[in-house]
Amino acid sequence: MAEKTDFLVIGSGIAGLSFALKAAERGKVCLVSKVNIEETNTRYAQGGIASVMYGPDSFEKHVRDTIVAGRDVCNEEVVRMVVTEAPERIRELIEMGVKFDRASDGRYDLAREGGHTEHRILHHKDNTGEIIEKILIGQVRSHSNIQIYENHFAVDLITQHHMGEVVDRSRKDIKCYGAYILDTKTKEVSTVLSKITVLATGGIGNLYHITTNPVIATGDGIAMVYRAKGIIENMEFIQFHPTSLYNPGVRPSFLITEALRGFGAVLKNTDGEKFMNRYDDRGSLAPRDIVARAIDTEMKVRGDDYVYLDCTHLDPHELVENFPNIYRKCLSLEIDITRDMIPVVPAAHYLCGGVKVDMNGESTINNLYAIGEVASTGLHGANRLASNSLLEAVVYAHRSAEHSSNRIKETGHQESVPEWSFEGTSHPEEMVLVTQNYKEVQMILSNYVGIVRSDLRLDRALKRLEIIYDETEELYKKSILSRRLCELRNLINVGYLVIKMASARQESLGLHYTIDYPPKKGMEF
Ligand code: FAD
Ligand code: SIN
Repeated sequence: MAEKTDFLVIGSGIAGLSFALKAAERGKVCLVSKVNIEETNTRYAQGGIASVMYGPDSFEKHVRDTIVAGRDVCNEEVVRMVVTEAPERIRELIEMGVKFDRASDGRYDLAREGGHTEHRILHHKDNTGEIIEKILIGQVRSHSNIQIYENHFAVDLITQHHMGEVVDRSRKDIKCYGAYILDTKTKEVSTVLSKITVLATGGIGNLYHITTNPVIATGDGIAMVYRAKGIIENMEFIQFHPTSLYNPGVRPSFLITEALRGFGAVLKNTDGEKFMNRYDDRGSLAPRDIVARAIDTEMKVRGDDYVYLDCTHLDPHELVENFPNIYRKCLSLEIDITRDMIPVVPAAHYLCGGVKVDMNGESTINNLYAIGEVASTGLHGANRLASNSLLEAVVYAHRSAEHSSNRIKETGHQESVPEWSFEGTSHPEEMVLVTQNYKEVQMILSNYVGIVRSDLRLDRALKRLEIIYDETEELYKKSILSRRLCELRNLINVGYLVIKMASARQESLGLHYTIDYPPKKGMEF
């Protein structure tokens, strides 16, 4: 693969593709994706992308909804910036060919999801992410300044550390010179030198046993930045989507979009009781953290494996017309959503924290940007408002492309970076050991660091994870490099950060709920 480039973009979801297209107008882009280019969280997005389009909605209302959902932990300046830049970024998507659904009067058919006080979600049926991903990939593939490398896995970021310097987290002058990239087919590792490196590596859903995320979401970007001594923050705020299809043993869990509740579907327990109003006045459309916790409580108290989402009272034609993929998927499991209630469970869905970045998407490591789900921008605070993440990705892809493009003229390549060292790694990895440890990590996090936490559970999780960490590091030192082994190592790294940050937050706030520090009066749910 190319060994020198202006921009190295790691990740081919909405963030990486949007950045690549903009940066390619100013320099050469090398885009890597660890599997095929399509397989991303982006592709599975159903609900849509939030943006104020017309009255009675207003920027002020979108700002307020975002901050209320985020429990005031959001950075208000960031929220205002993202919300006001949204229409311009949406316009660009439309110009590229994304066709958002329209109502019969020609205006956009805006959906509503939990925590939104207005209808403001642009969508394409119930497969918005697939459409956006397809259009962006088409553009990227035909751009002469973008080289695409599928099945290429970024192993580590290159900094002064690789030239023998001691690098610690207090240093403000850490620089990123590129990354070591593993070709997962040939097993060769290339040293890719870049003036600007962009992490668009997405989320961490596979830290948990039940997740809506595809297998690529293993927190690689966060683990790489942590190892390179950059700052990671807010890892305790992991969003569980309230309604994934209950279908034991199947991964990833199929999402039942929140837009369905916006459309009128109602949560019920197995006795048919509409239980949500016992937890929150907003009922089935309360913010996600509240709904997920209510479902978790309801299932635990009643000893049930799931609750139901009921659409049977809705107009069947409109239901099928608006949610064709959900209809088809459920029907394949003999659930006819026009007549049967859908069994649902919460699933790990989205990481609100991640690599700390400024308003241009730059991390605490110079010339390293992080955009999309891997980043912690300050937009989501303690709980992301639905459909704000695709929006955040396009806004930050734009800002970081603008900002970093001004840098490439004055930045050179670091020529004295050593090749990747294979020293001591002669054994092919033992897949059974990797697979077993991978599952154990998921069980530890799911059982002890899920929707409801406690000091004792977090402490136990850390002790168990340390054993797996030691075993895996031993294996890593001896084994020939492979994607699965690196992913396991990264997941352990990310799991450690989640547990540490959850333990440090001695309060219940947003997505971090602990029985040892109950919420303040009036904030129980
Ligand atoms: P992704 O789209 O996840 O892309 C990550 C990329 O990084 C992939 O190409 C992957 O291969 C690559 N990568 C990762 N690690 C490496 C590595 N080490 N080396 C090389 N490549 C690597 N948000 C909304 O706003 N609205 C919605 O309606 C919505 N619905 C959702 C539904 C589902 C089922 C899911 C899972 C998420 C949903 N989200 C939604 C969240 C949203 O889809 C994601 O936050 C967003 O798509 C993330 O985009 P991204 O570009 O940051 O990462
Ligand atoms: C959904 O469609 O419910 C998911 C939306 C999101 O995660 O923002």
